[in-house]
Amino acid sequence: MKVRKAVFPVAGLGTRFLPATKAMAKEMLPIVDKPLIQYAVEEAYASGISEIIFITGAGKQAIENHFDHSCELEHMLMARGKDSELKAIHALIPDSGSIIYTRQNQPLGLGHAIWCARNIVGREPFAVLLADDLIKADKPVLKQMIEKFDELQSSIVSVVEVAKEDTSKYGILDAPPLTDGVTKIRGLVEKPKPDEAPSNLAIIGRYILTPEIFDILEGKEVGAGGEIQITDAMARLLESQAIYGYRYSGSRFDCGNKAGFQMANLAFSMERPEIREQLLPFLKDLLKTV
Ligand code: UTP
Repeated sequence: MKVRKAVFPVAGLGTRFLPATKAMAKEMLPIVDKPLIQYAVEEAYASGISEIIFITGAGKQAIENHFDHSCELEHMLMARGKDSELKAIHALIPDSGSIIYTRQNQPLGLGHAIWCARNIVGREPFAVLLADDLIKADKPVLKQMIEKFDELQSSIVSVVEVAKEDTSKYGILDAPPLTDGVTKIRGLVEKPKPDEAPSNLAIIGRYILTPEIFDILEGKEVGAGGEIQITDAMARLLESQAIYGYRYSGSRFDCGNKAGFQMANLAFSMERPEIREQLLPFLKDLLKTV
């Protein structure tokens, strides 16, 4: 079983970024000069994925436009001799037919968004990437996971250790400690209170799932927060197959919250010499005043 397809759920409301996300998709928020969704799509391609599936929703047309030609803009850039800008926008347009869009017509939760891809994915393993988890890594995290999947031939979720007080923000594993970055999951709990969390291993936005997950999501069971949760569906999947937690190698930024988003912008800016040169003295001065 090879992982060829990646699902990108982008139909959420992005309420934590209102009012910025009132008329704009959260996944289009830029880290330096590239939208979050583009980092995730680039990670998928760099990991060997050949088919991209977007689960979009109302008001998310900017994402479709971002991965398509803009004749007027291209014409203007050409006329003005802005060759590198033209090259940059051409580079991100995939081959016709390699991106498929479908709509989640109500944001009923991540599990429901993934279920919307069932007919497009069919009966094969697939990846899920949440663009708001941005991970800086030498080897793309999805590639690391696909290599593990090739070995284990079973569902895998990426995990990170979180502080005890933060367990209520994540899906948390009930699992033995990691050995060589991997653990076999016994159970999963969505957003447990710190006292009730079975571990400090939290699921982050990279998954490789087998198609049996669609059969479980078909039940449309509502869980924490009144949403159809992928964590609950995976807890059910555990009854019939093994699921592994994988501690990726890389630095993760939770760009779904404001502080994480700012941290990502700073970290990625520092890697650009022309920005770093201006930003560093500014930050040093700022730090003296806070
Ligand atoms: P989040 O819960 O982080 O995104 O879901 P959100 O709901 O848009 O944000 P907040 O919490 O209100 O600020 C993670 C990913 O899953 C997608 C989101 O678009 C995001 O990329 N998602 C979430 C869906 O596609 N559909 C949903 O029903 C829920």
